[in-house]
Amino acid sequence: MFQSKQILLGLALSHLAHGAPAVSPQSSQIANPNYGPIPGESPVYSTTYTIEPPFPGNTTGAVLNTTSGPPGPNDVLWQNILGAEWIIFSFYQQGITTFNESSFTSLGLPNTTYQRFLQIRDNEAGHLRIFQDNISPTSVKPGPCKYKYPFSDAESFLALSTLIEISSMAFVTGMEYQAMDPAAAAALVAVGETETRHTTWSLIDVWNANPFSGPIDTVYPYSNQILEFTRDFIVAGSCPPENPVYPDPPQQLATFDLASNTSSIAPGSHITATFETQPTFANGKDYYAVFFHGKYNISMPFDTKTNTTTIPAAFDPTGIIIAVIADAEGAPTNTSVIAGPLIILENPANVGLSLAT
Ligand SMILES: *[C@@H]1O[C@H](CO)[C@@H](O)[C@H](O)[C@H]1NC(C)=O
Ligand SMILES: *[C@@H]1O[C@H](CO)[C@@H](O)[C@H](O)[C@H]1NC(C)=O
Ligand SMILES: *[C@@H]1O[C@H](CO)[C@@H](O)[C@H](O)[C@H]1NC(C)=O
Ligand SMILES: *[C@@H]1O[C@H](CO)[C@@H](O)[C@H](O)[C@H]1NC(C)=O
Ligand SMILES: *[C@@H]1O[C@H](CO)[C@@H](O)[C@H](O)[C@H]1NC(C)=O
Ligand SMILES: *[C@@H]1O[C@H](CO)[C@@H](O)[C@H](O)[C@H]1NC(C)=O
Ligand SMILES: *[C@@H]1O[C@H](CO)[C@@H](O)[C@H](O)[C@H]1NC(C)=O
Ligand SMILES: *[C@@H]1O[C@H](CO)[C@@H](O)[C@H](O)[C@H]1NC(C)=O
Repeated sequence: MFQSKQILLGLALSHLAHGAPAVSPQSSQIANPNYGPIPGESPVYSTTYTIEPPFPGNTTGAVLNTTSGPPGPNDVLWQNILGAEWIIFSFYQQGITTFNESSFTSLGLPNTTYQRFLQIRDNEAGHLRIFQDNISPTSVKPGPCKYKYPFSDAESFLALSTLIEISSMAFVTGMEYQAMDPAAAAALVAVGETETRHTTWSLIDVWNANPFSGPIDTVYPYSNQILEFTRDFIVAGSCPPENPVYPDPPQQLATFDLASNTSSIAPGSHITATFETQPTFANGKDYYAVFFHGKYNISMPFDTKTNTTTIPAAFDPTGIIIAVIADAEGAPTNTSVIAGPLIILENPANVGLSLAT
């Protein structure tokens, strides 16, 4: 009903414009940062309460470079994060298209829940525009692919949303290692803060959980490894051909999950890893499960005969713990990581456990 109203409105407007078809902005127009609503100035990125995606979420295709020359120093960083942002934006856009206010109130959630998801979607559209604008005119701005997310109902959407927000907080923080100047680093902090507000809202209003996560969120320096697993949401072969490789550089890592019989992810729990893609373990070599929480990491022996390890009992059960399997204690280099990363959501623990299995 809503959609057909929009089509009628669209037809009426194009009729008013002397029957001219709606003209899509050209790549060169979108390349101009003054084209379209401006983040921080326009309310579009906070309070567009329509089902239709706000600009630039309503555009398709990569935005081509308008000049030739060497890339800007942070171009690869912004291209990577824009590739990730299309995945996040499209997740919320699909959610608000699939669900409506009653989908959430019927679960006993506040009647503002659907509207909050519209606002989060709007914020994410603003991030798309900010990242596009930060890519210099000599580099391509990646466009949207087609995406498929493993949610089947409002509850699984809510759980996945929490995982996506928390993962984005972690990779945005980790990306600061790649920032070539303080302005880029500060912009990343400011974006991470917005993702944190989304998480805090959902902890309070959706999960009725403790909204805080201890004094510091988790730092994981190899953020492209987190981006790599977001590729699972991309429909193979659906990206604009001009898009740069995502993530750049690509990561060749085995991935793992917690065994489906996992009954606790509290610190101190003994856990079994199930590999989704197979790592190669050398005979007689020691491997470690390295757990990152706050600004520290703790290495635990990883038993390659049973694929078992223990979540460090020393950690506070707040926020997230990021686990990788590495061939050196502390996973001191990106090449020491053999498998992972796995994001273990400690709060709310029941949601973390549901995602783990
Ligand atoms: C996208 O939305 C903006 C308004 O936010 C509008 O000006 C533009 O025409 C739309 N573009 C397309 C391709 O629909
Ligand atoms: C875009 O970049 C490519 C590769 O550097 C270059 O060949 C091309 O001329 C550039 N496009 C424009 C419009 O300058
Ligand atoms: C939400 O969608 C359901 C099923 O399509 C429909 O029955 C209900 O009226 C809708 N609620 C609102 C508030 O639009
Ligand atoms: C939401 O519920 C409150 C009461 O809890 C009510 O005052 C408000 O009008 C409702 N809003 C909507 C959009 O239904
Ligand atoms: C889970 O299953 C594995 C075999 O897949 C088994 O070795 C392990 O003991 C089980 N763990 C628990 C907690 O039951
Ligand atoms: C542990 O994982 C390796 C690598 O995927 C696999 O070959 C092996 O069968 C697993 N061992 C057990 C006991 O599940
Ligand atoms: C993990 O901690 C060790 C010891 O503090 C440190 O040397 C190492 O660099 C840390 N690993 C990462 C990936 O930050
Ligand atoms: C690993 O880190 C090095 C040094 O920062 C970097 O040059 C390299 O591209 C990284 N490799 C991957 C696969 O991310």
